[in-house]
Amino acid sequence: MKFTKSSPLKGEITIPGDKSISHRSVMFGAIAKGTTEISHFLQGADCLSTISCFQKMGIQIENHNGTVIVQGKGLRGLKKPETILDCGNSGTTTRLISGLLAAQDFDVTLTGDESIQKRPMKRIMEPLSMMGANIRSLKDNGCAPLSITGKKLHSIHYASPVASAQVKSCILLAGLYSEGETKVTEPYVSRNHSEIMLKYFGANVKTEGTTACITPAQELYGNRVVVPGDISSAAFFIAAGLMIPGSEILIKNVGINPTRDGIIHVCRDMGADITLLEVNADSGEPTADILVKSGSLHGITIGGAIIPTLIDELPMIAAMACLAEGETVIKDAAELKVKESNRIDIMVRNLSAMGADVVETEDGMIIRGGKPLHGSVIDSKLDHRIAMTFAVTGLCAEGETEILGAECVNVSYPEFYEDLKKLSL
Ligand code: S3P
Repeated sequence: MKFTKSSPLKGEITIPGDKSISHRSVMFGAIAKGTTEISHFLQGADCLSTISCFQKMGIQIENHNGTVIVQGKGLRGLKKPETILDCGNSGTTTRLISGLLAAQDFDVTLTGDESIQKRPMKRIMEPLSMMGANIRSLKDNGCAPLSITGKKLHSIHYASPVASAQVKSCILLAGLYSEGETKVTEPYVSRNHSEIMLKYFGANVKTEGTTACITPAQELYGNRVVVPGDISSAAFFIAAGLMIPGSEILIKNVGINPTRDGIIHVCRDMGADITLLEVNADSGEPTADILVKSGSLHGITIGGAIIPTLIDELPMIAAMACLAEGETVIKDAAELKVKESNRIDIMVRNLSAMGADVVETEDGMIIRGGKPLHGSVIDSKLDHRIAMTFAVTGLCAEGETEILGAECVNVSYPEFYEDLKKLSL
């Protein structure tokens, strides 16, 4: 895929469904009683991996025209799959499913692509083992493939060293089947979609500050889920609207859950003109239309409790900071190293190749903005968010930007390039 400097982007866009919420709706629907109907389900490869894993465990799931219908079989309705479960590129599938599988009465092996097989699984193996689970890394390297033999579990109070919704959700799902109250305390609050949806399906979930608690349920009950647009996908259009002079974009129906909306706060702190319209806070997952107008930005420091609320947006924020006046410091973001790629390393390399002044630090990067960017060949390392970040950055650079492995956007936003193009017509 090749990109050159763009004219202003104008118009309206509707963003595909939230990835985290789409995953959870299928998983929780599968272990609930009755039918769960999910509209605006994200048709990205990651969420399709989740569907396929549950189909292999005997759950009937239909997927047509953006609507997914799950015929849930209740908390004890999953069946031993006949083959290995393939989680593809999806960390959410791998880690959340592990929590569920730890408590079933069968054994299973799960794995995924090359990237998944490098991602740390000790962070879930350790708490699950403390709960009595039998979970092993088959290569003994703390990564997938994982072999899980279901066991009777007991509750724990786990102090997680990282703010991770995948770790928290994995433990809460195991806690759904464990005796007593299971608690997870995080250094900062991570996204709370599991807590919101589990409660909506009838589970006993509470949150107190940075602690989430669950007690076992008799049953969960299927329900209707309307998935909001994914703010992590909207982030690329927010950035494009701010970075390309003369742009004005209305991004419709985006999820603005406060555990996910850090990008909006950071952009405003950088001086951005962002307005939230049609705010709807009636359901557990609030939504809004986001109106973005281009303008000049300035550097800021980003760290601490806001990091988990914008962790997936940091590549795009880093690129945006290259065009802002002054220095931007991103810190407390070492988690970026264990995402679909090492996002600190890959961002620093690719932004430097485009002429930016950016240095890697132990837990983030420092960017001195204001240097003009020029096109370059960008290796996406098959990381969807890196490919999308540089597609947008390429629209702000002199000359041509070529993205290698551009098709990896399929993981979270299959129509991304078409949608981006539509706004420049
Ligand atoms: C996710 C949690 C985050 C995020 C990922 C999706 C989720 O990961 O980066 O894209 O759906 O729970 P961590 O839990 O590893 O921080």
